[in-house]
Amino acid sequence: MAYPYQIKSLEEYQQNYQQSVMDPEGFWANVADHFYWRRKWDKVLEWNFKDPDVKWFTGGKLNITENCLDRHLGTLGNTPAIIWEPNDPEERHRVITYRDLYNKVCQFANVLKNNGVKKGDRVCIYMGMIPELAIAVLACARIGAIHSVVFGGFSAQSIADRIQDAQASLVITCDGAFRGNKDIPLKSVIDDALIGCPSVKKVIVCTRTRTPVSMIKGRDLWWEDEIKQVETMGNPPCPAEEMDAEDMLFILYTSGSTGKPKGVVHTCGGYMVYANYTFVNTFQYQPGEVYFCTADVGWITGHSYIIYGPLSAGATTLMFEGVPTYPDAGRLWSIVDKFRVNILYTAPTAIRSLMGYGLGPVNHKDLSSLKKLGSVGEPINEEAWHWFKDHIGKGRCPIVDTWWQTETGGIMITPIAGITKEKPGYATLPLPGIQPILVDEKGEEIKGNNVNGNLCIKFPWPGMLRTTYGDHERCRTTYFATYDNLYFTGDGCLRDEDGYYRITGRVDDVLNVSGHRIGTAEVENAINMHAGVVESAVVGYPHDIKGQGIYAYVITERQTHDPELTKKDILQTVSRIIGPIAKPDKIQFVSGLPKTRSGKIMRRILRKIAEGELDNLGDTSTLLDPAVVEEIKRSRL
Ligand code: PRX
Repeated sequence: MAYPYQIKSLEEYQQNYQQSVMDPEGFWANVADHFYWRRKWDKVLEWNFKDPDVKWFTGGKLNITENCLDRHLGTLGNTPAIIWEPNDPEERHRVITYRDLYNKVCQFANVLKNNGVKKGDRVCIYMGMIPELAIAVLACARIGAIHSVVFGGFSAQSIADRIQDAQASLVITCDGAFRGNKDIPLKSVIDDALIGCPSVKKVIVCTRTRTPVSMIKGRDLWWEDEIKQVETMGNPPCPAEEMDAEDMLFILYTSGSTGKPKGVVHTCGGYMVYANYTFVNTFQYQPGEVYFCTADVGWITGHSYIIYGPLSAGATTLMFEGVPTYPDAGRLWSIVDKFRVNILYTAPTAIRSLMGYGLGPVNHKDLSSLKKLGSVGEPINEEAWHWFKDHIGKGRCPIVDTWWQTETGGIMITPIAGITKEKPGYATLPLPGIQPILVDEKGEEIKGNNVNGNLCIKFPWPGMLRTTYGDHERCRTTYFATYDNLYFTGDGCLRDEDGYYRITGRVDDVLNVSGHRIGTAEVENAINMHAGVVESAVVGYPHDIKGQGIYAYVITERQTHDPELTKKDILQTVSRIIGPIAKPDKIQFVSGLPKTRSGKIMRRILRKIAEGELDNLGDTSTLLDPAVVEEIKRSRL
């Protein structure tokens, strides 16, 4: 069998789960044995959640790219590793075999070396969804450079913050990116970002849209020219750097409840084992299947389930440059049809938006190749779940509703396709190795079924974050200090009468907008930077397509003549500071905000008003200025 650790039956799931709890080290050692290690580990696990200090496979030496590429060459050299579908359906797709990918990664790794990149250096990657993005990521891993991929929808200011935090020395970007009918000028955004980033010495620019770009002498280089140089050197091999299991593999910035995004750090050994194990098991991947994840590599889903999970498993991963609605709302279904896709992993927000177009775009597409479906990023409502099941899976494909986070590195709670039971709206059961518990406000465990609480994990798993870059204390306070000896997810959760888990959403000040994680404090900071804004408060509200929309209450210095124009100006500022993904859907101008006597904004009240629950605001008499609540209710949008 291709994957000896692939669960094959319900009984096997139960046995594996039991074993993983009784003997976690033995369990994970068995899995890790099926990878290529230059040197085997001395100890499987050392940990405490107090500092926190978690180490998996200590003393083990490896390079993740040898596991994703080299070890497959003998058997899968001519098998497609990446199938790439461009934004424009008229443009030719590309098929990159494992051998091609290996050659290209080695070539570009040599480019990085020629430009002075060494093990441990940080490289920022800001590219569209083209194969060169995967090549850039793997080339960093090949030479032990730490990649920090920044999603193409972030602004120059956001990129600059991330580059400065990581002190990146090199940036890899494109001239531009095609997304739907847009051409996003990536290099020009990078140029703006780099004004305040002296750590960056080189920028490598890959050609895609060929929009005019400025190329600064001595700093900016064309990807293609650099490749030519390596070719003139006779394409020397690029031996993989030997990495310690606990060396950093990458940083990925994500939003929390404070203003500044944090750099979640994943390390080489544990992350590799976990991304692979969860991929192979959740999707029940079988050799030869075509697997299509619609995420962007700028998010964790793209890292774990477009690149590292599938490639370490020798799978064929389909990468799509565009968006589900371009040139029409049948695009994903056309891709499934064109490449005979077997596994489709997407987000509830995409399903909801496509549902809105009716069945026209689905009809006449041959979806008979589909065997398994997946959902990720936010709670999936039952209507969307059934639509996906009936109209895309034609009632025959299991759906895996996978709950996890940037910090967890891989899927944590999910059905196992075709093996464990599914339940609409439920992530159902933990994978082997994962020990979830629900706690109350005081951190007391809530036992039994039919209960609601805050979701925590009580034992380490190989894919978990190790620190937040440059600020370990922040990692401790965010995840390990709320409750003693537990990793706190920030999510609320219920466990039903059958013991199945249903994630109910964030219990902290983090929003989930179209599956993108955005901190309310970040949006408030951006709004407050707008001239004339005195204060603001941002909350989420239910949104039919995005899951959550952003509702901003804003106090300005004086009434403007044209509030609509001021709103547009504020949106422009938020776009500049964070990126278009963080633009509020609604802005309500108010004269004050509900605050406690100690000056704390009562978000609970604002959330209720945004949700339209006007009669159920609780006790407002203790507020500093109860009258303001009435005013806000009256002018609610
Ligand atoms: O609130 C949960 C929600 O997304 C958060 C993690 O966001 P991020 O780190 O950006 O990673 C998204 C991709 C893994 C979680 O704290 N979330 C993720 N998956 C689900 C979910 N909520 C409900 N059901 C899910 N399947």
